[in-house]
Amino acid sequence: MAADTSATNPRKSRVVLGLQWGDEGKGKVIDLLADRCDVVVRCQGGANAGHTVVVGGKKTVLHLLPSGVLHESSRCVIGNGVVIDPLALCHELDDLKAGGCDPVKRLFISDRAHLVLPYHRALDAAAEKAKGDAKVGTTLRGIGPCYGDKVARSGVRCGELRDLAAFEVRLRAHLTQANVLIRAAGGTEVEVERAIAEVMPACRRMAPMIADTASILHQASAQRLSFLFEGAQGVMLDIDYGTYPFVTSSNTGIGGVITGSGLSHKDLGEVIGVVKAYSTRVGGGPFPVELLGAKGDEVRKRGSEFGATTGRPRRCGWLDLVAVRFACRLNGVDSIALTKLDILTGEPEVPVCVAYEIDGVRVDTIPSRLEDLSRAKPIYERLPGWTQQLSGSTFDGLPAGARAYIGFIEERVGVPVRWIGTGPGRDEIVVR
Ligand code: GDP
Ligand code: IMO
Ligand code: MG
Repeated sequence: MAADTSATNPRKSRVVLGLQWGDEGKGKVIDLLADRCDVVVRCQGGANAGHTVVVGGKKTVLHLLPSGVLHESSRCVIGNGVVIDPLALCHELDDLKAGGCDPVKRLFISDRAHLVLPYHRALDAAAEKAKGDAKVGTTLRGIGPCYGDKVARSGVRCGELRDLAAFEVRLRAHLTQANVLIRAAGGTEVEVERAIAEVMPACRRMAPMIADTASILHQASAQRLSFLFEGAQGVMLDIDYGTYPFVTSSNTGIGGVITGSGLSHKDLGEVIGVVKAYSTRVGGGPFPVELLGAKGDEVRKRGSEFGATTGRPRRCGWLDLVAVRFACRLNGVDSIALTKLDILTGEPEVPVCVAYEIDGVRVDTIPSRLEDLSRAKPIYERLPGWTQQLSGSTFDGLPAGARAYIGFIEERVGVPVRWIGTGPGRDEIVVR
């Protein structure tokens, strides 16, 4: 592969997207790149995200705040495409402050972003309960109902917090109205006055951070500042291209970055896709490569695959290159950050799914119909494993099996792997 200095080029704009079912290790990659950019921007999703950053052995999980927040020099923007729960935001700010980080003065929240309010959480829970065994397995953070209100043109946006008295009146009306729906759905109604007493202080705290972030970003672009766009979830959870309806409620790919920030394709720069060296998924929905039984349990344990937001055990499977190829094509991915390769150390051989078989026919892409994807059986190619530990290695020092694994992904996907994760810590990564 031709030498490319842009992996270490200090200041250029980058987009970081998850290419699988979320939890690929985006937080770590963002944290790594954040000190080389001026503004870190979250564009979609909400507190359903859980992005882990490990610095000096200390673990921080970010949900709403951009993962660049730990760098004192980073300006952080929560763009209009994000749905924001004021209570979750304040909890997160408090936790960070207790750990010695107070980003309030460098945090800008879009006045066009929608608010996740207590009734959204109640409606999320009621919808899941009503679905029974067919439930999506959401994070119960109110994400779907909030985006639903946005699209139905009945949402409440952060800009409303500029007039808190008017907002309180509106909130009371929304809570009362939502209780009718919650009751009809068999859910637990929200106690109106109690909810208001809980939410209003958080809203008051948020109000000074609300800004016209699109204009701020336009100015930053005119000043040729660099951006780091932080994707949440992963392409297979995208509302359009994921395994619908077992998806989240936003566009998790490049489209969501543009509509959710207010910047244009000209501001994006390099698109980095984060790929875990194997596959995981939380919640329901088809997952052709899923390892059921002892092997799945072993990978889960070795990879500590428990949700960063909900603590739920993640379903585990081998790497699915059908999904990764599709995600790269959809999003114009320039380079891959391959994470958690260290977790595969010790496997005698590593199967990689290169295609599916559906009713005896070989298929090279993701079928749109859930019924078809549910019948897909993975077609594996088996690569030799390795036993040598990866942490602290250079690329050339990686065991031959690990290098061959990387080369196989590059060849089958057609995208270079430029970062290789060898452990959870900020420094445990090989940059090529
Ligand atoms: P995100 O949602 O994409 O940011 O990912 P999560 O934080 O939910 O899950 C990724 C998990 O893997 C976290 O616990 C990270 O600390 C950890 N992690 C990230 N990269 C690596 C790596 O290369 N090796 C190992 N062993 N762990 C990693
Ligand atoms: P990060 O950013 C993994 C999953 C949920 C559920 C579906 C819908 O940490 O990668 P939602 O609450 O969004 O309505 O749930 O999407 N999900 C995630 N899975 N990582 C995430 O975020 C996720 N965010 C949502 O488990 O299956
Ligand atoms: Mg996560």
